[in-house]
Amino acid sequence: MSKPPSVPEYMRQIQPYVAGKPIEEVERELGIRAIKLASNENPLGPSPLAVEALRRDAIGVHRYPDGSAYYLRERLAKELGVPPDHLVFGAGSSELILLASHGHLQHGDEGLTSEASFPVYDAAILSTGARLVRVPLADQAIDLDGIAAAVTRHTRVIYLANPNNPTGTWFPASTFESFLNRIPDEILVVLDEAYYEYADRPGYSRSIELVREGRNLLALRTFSKIYGLAGLRIGYGIARPEIVTALDRVRHPFNTSGIAQSAALAALDDHEHVRRSIEMNRAGLDQLAAGFTELGVSFVPSVANFILADVGNGAAVSDALLHLGIVVRPMAWMGIPQSIRVTVGTAEENRKLLAALAQALGSLRGKRVSHS
Ligand SMILES: Cc1ncc(COP(=O)(O)O)c(C=O)c1O
Repeated sequence: MSKPPSVPEYMRQIQPYVAGKPIEEVERELGIRAIKLASNENPLGPSPLAVEALRRDAIGVHRYPDGSAYYLRERLAKELGVPPDHLVFGAGSSELILLASHGHLQHGDEGLTSEASFPVYDAAILSTGARLVRVPLADQAIDLDGIAAAVTRHTRVIYLANPNNPTGTWFPASTFESFLNRIPDEILVVLDEAYYEYADRPGYSRSIELVREGRNLLALRTFSKIYGLAGLRIGYGIARPEIVTALDRVRHPFNTSGIAQSAALAALDDHEHVRRSIEMNRAGLDQLAAGFTELGVSFVPSVANFILADVGNGAAVSDALLHLGIVVRPMAWMGIPQSIRVTVGTAEENRKLLAALAQALGSLRGKRVSHS
């Protein structure tokens, strides 16, 4: 057998992304019906209007898509109140995270982000040969002061998730604006608002206004979360045209499919689906918080569609839950081995999760007692 092709040293530092287990895989392996609360998907599924658009437009999939996503661009531009050239579309916002680094970083530069945040930022930075600098959380949340203080003359890109995944914590627009005022012009700040619609709190976001003011900001949103279209891979960025052009230089021209564009467009019309999703999530956050408290499990209060819960041993508890038919995410790979991240499900799914968690914790505590 020949030696494998050589891989640059900086690439070897990248940990391949550990995705939540697909539900089909769990059901196949364990021979049970499973509930997946592992990837922050919408438990209500996609909007029926989006499904209808998919059916309607499936007939055209022999054609390459419109690489400029004209109709979706026009629609979102109007909705957000920005010119159409302030938008860039990606195969999920994940692709735009990668493109932001590829468009702005080179060997010798630094990319800055937080510890315990979305791991795609790390991979995006490292894959350019730039140095990855990660600032620890402060009080379980992103430390904007710490990140501003970590800027050096080599920093070129900063990634921030608001709300943060996996902590579910958020920072207000006023705090972010003060942070941005401390960041030199040659740095691109990527503000990842994947959970924007869920985090609907007073004073939460002014990202569009900041883009309109001409700041060096790329705000990212996605159709994967509240719109329930994770499987179609479509998200977008909002930024001044110079930043959009920097991403377009490295963007594959047909990166978002025509059917994804059509479904996204239809999903934007379904205000009722968005409203129900927000409502169900609010109730689910309360239900999980009450259930965790009852079980004596501490958790980080969240404004997103997931909760980080300290169960003592995230790997053991996830495994026990898996065998009870519930898929959650152990967090060791994000540097939080004591925790699991649970996506908010329907009321029934949350109830089953809490019952299974009580059982899992009971049997693990029992084992510890009998071993001692
Ligand atoms: C903070 C954050 N950003 C981006 C994404 C990726 O979403 P997309 O499906 O749009 O690539 C996720 C998905 O979990 C996320 O948690």
